[in-house]
Amino acid sequence: MTKTATLIIDGKTLELPIIEGTQGDRGIDISRLRAETGCITYDPGYMNTGPCKSAITFVDGENGILRYRGYPIEQIAARGSFVETAWLLIFGELPSREQLSRFSAALCEEELLHEDVKHHFEGFPPNGHPMAILSAITNSLGCYHPELLEIESRGEFYLAASKIISKVRTIAAFSYRKSTGRPFMYPNPALSYCRNFLHMMFSIPHKHYDPSPEAVRALSLFLTLHADHEQNCSTSTVRMVGSTQANLFASVSAGICALWGRLHGGANAGVVEMLEQIRDGKTSPKDCIELVKQKKFRLMGFGHRIYKNFDPRARILKDAAHDLLLKLGKLDPLLDIAMELEAAALADPYFTERKLYPNVDFYSGIILRALNIPVSMFPVMFAIGRMPGWIAHWYEENQEQTKIHRPRQVYTGQIIRDYVPIDER
Ligand code: CMC
Repeated sequence: MTKTATLIIDGKTLELPIIEGTQGDRGIDISRLRAETGCITYDPGYMNTGPCKSAITFVDGENGILRYRGYPIEQIAARGSFVETAWLLIFGELPSREQLSRFSAALCEEELLHEDVKHHFEGFPPNGHPMAILSAITNSLGCYHPELLEIESRGEFYLAASKIISKVRTIAAFSYRKSTGRPFMYPNPALSYCRNFLHMMFSIPHKHYDPSPEAVRALSLFLTLHADHEQNCSTSTVRMVGSTQANLFASVSAGICALWGRLHGGANAGVVEMLEQIRDGKTSPKDCIELVKQKKFRLMGFGHRIYKNFDPRARILKDAAHDLLLKLGKLDPLLDIAMELEAAALADPYFTERKLYPNVDFYSGIILRALNIPVSMFPVMFAIGRMPGWIAHWYEENQEQTKIHRPRQVYTGQIIRDYVPIDER
């Protein structure tokens, strides 16, 4: 029997069905609320709102659990690769050897940009932010693949997903090359997904960049850990734009814009800037924490809407950062500073009382620095990683054929007034 919640408004009783998920999540179905009572729900920041059901990613923030399609993130991080994870998220199952090899081949096939796309880069100023370039050029891909603006079959979806996952990496690397004034390096289909990206970033004509296996593995891990995180702001944006039946290119491009902000995918750059300020003696961990307590500053890479415990991705990235620096024989004072700042924060009741712990962005920048990725590219790296998640959610939204996302409001403005001609104001 369906469980219900009882709501009484103005003496009228309404039984609202309770929807249960496979992990015990419960949602009160209020889809008839306005029609039956005239009321809407008021939920700033959507802290209590679930606009969809989803079978892609499970997060239990109280217990620090994250699973992609049921697989614990720790197992995927230890044994999987980014390309395998992308398949898992998009198609729902771990790929067979043959599926993985066909998918990898499709990514190689799709790695080039149309030559005309290269001219778009010329239109941006040299110091144009790579997130703006990534979003604009990802959206423009729809112009070069008009046959994929309306996706009518699983085959077309497969093609569009492969194009975006492959080309976003080329666009990202080209946007970096544009900012440095160096020539674009074409992708090399003989290289794996991550190695190919590092090649496009750092090779120069006649001098091939050959990263160590540890560097390639660390990049794959970074991307894997960013690949999905259920209904976060950028994913909700992709689903919202997709709910209008906007095409996949436009929808993920909107996701890139939503990700850019400091409270979301821009936090990884914020963390490193904060750690650099401490390194350069402009502030100290103690001062940072004091400023936080005076509400003048937010500790970047700390806190999360859902995790009220350690973010499992932060734990993995912290270990991976240590490991990578050791294997590359590099020292990074920012890692020690990050650990000092973490310890100082977690010893302070301000953080423990509010359940603020390091999130995915706190240690990820240390890995990106070790790979020589500049800070301006940090959110772009997040976007490359999040692409499979956005695509999976866009498809789920599309398959469910849900309604256009169109929230309501509680209007608080003027009631009614007569128009006043300009000379009489
Ligand atoms: N530093 C200091 N205080 C904080 C922080 C922080 N990083 N995060 C939250 N708080 C405080 C906040 O001031 C509030 O205090 P009070 O109850 O006294 O008003 C309390 O904790 C609850 O904060 P909130 O803003 O209501 O929490 P939220 O769920 O709306 O925000 C968040 C979540 C991630 C935006 C926030 O924790 C934050 O701004 N963190 C820093 C930016 C960051 O690291 N973002 C990356 C998030 S993880 C990756 C991703 O999804 O992009």
